[in-house]
Amino acid sequence: MGHDMTARAFVFDAYGTLFDVHAAIARHRAACGSDADRLSDIWRTKQLEYTWTLTLSGQYVDFWTLTERALDYSLARVPSVDKAIKSKLLEAYFALDAFPDARVALQDLKKRGERTAILSNGSPKMLQGAVEGSQMTTLLDKVLSVDAIRIYKPRKEVYAMVTQTFGNKPGDVVFVSSNRWDVMGAIACGFRGVWVNRGKMPDEYFDQRPEIVLPDLTSLPALAA
Ligand code: LAC
Repeated sequence: MGHDMTARAFVFDAYGTLFDVHAAIARHRAACGSDADRLSDIWRTKQLEYTWTLTLSGQYVDFWTLTERALDYSLARVPSVDKAIKSKLLEAYFALDAFPDARVALQDLKKRGERTAILSNGSPKMLQGAVEGSQMTTLLDKVLSVDAIRIYKPRKEVYAMVTQTFGNKPGDVVFVSSNRWDVMGAIACGFRGVWVNRGKMPDEYFDQRPEIVLPDLTSLPALAA
């Protein structure tokens, strides 16, 4: 990946990339019953939709509130799941499990002297909950939240937070996300895009192709060499 050690930064999306958004449901799968996966999918889809619709209409509500509203909506859409599970699901979402490969990859990158960061829609509090819960605090140089500018990805102002923070050029940023639309936004800003295709999804956004597509984060640090 050709390198300039002083300028380069590896920047990660949080939800879906480092932290497993379906882990909250997984922890309470038995209580959620046979519609557990459907509930989880609607929850995630609505949460993201709210970020886009609010940003397009010039409004902002923090990601934690949107996460709760999206859960309310998904519980209304899937009446077979008892609404009493809501507070347990939210609690689990606050301290989501990290993917097993995420911590290993961050550790490896730090050993190689690379700079690392999160750039996320998540509110500062929920990012802190997830980062601390998965013992990643010392593995990240920066945790950047859109909350500082109150607009959501994939607006360009969000990605610009990275180059403003590190004082580097867009081409020095290796941006890693499992969300293909997020990789699109990063590449549109001149970042180098790595798509972690955890969901084995078909490719899309062909005008902004990722430099690399990985199944998970295991081989990412080797690419940094
Ligand atoms: C984030 C969402 C997009 O962490 O997953 O920014």
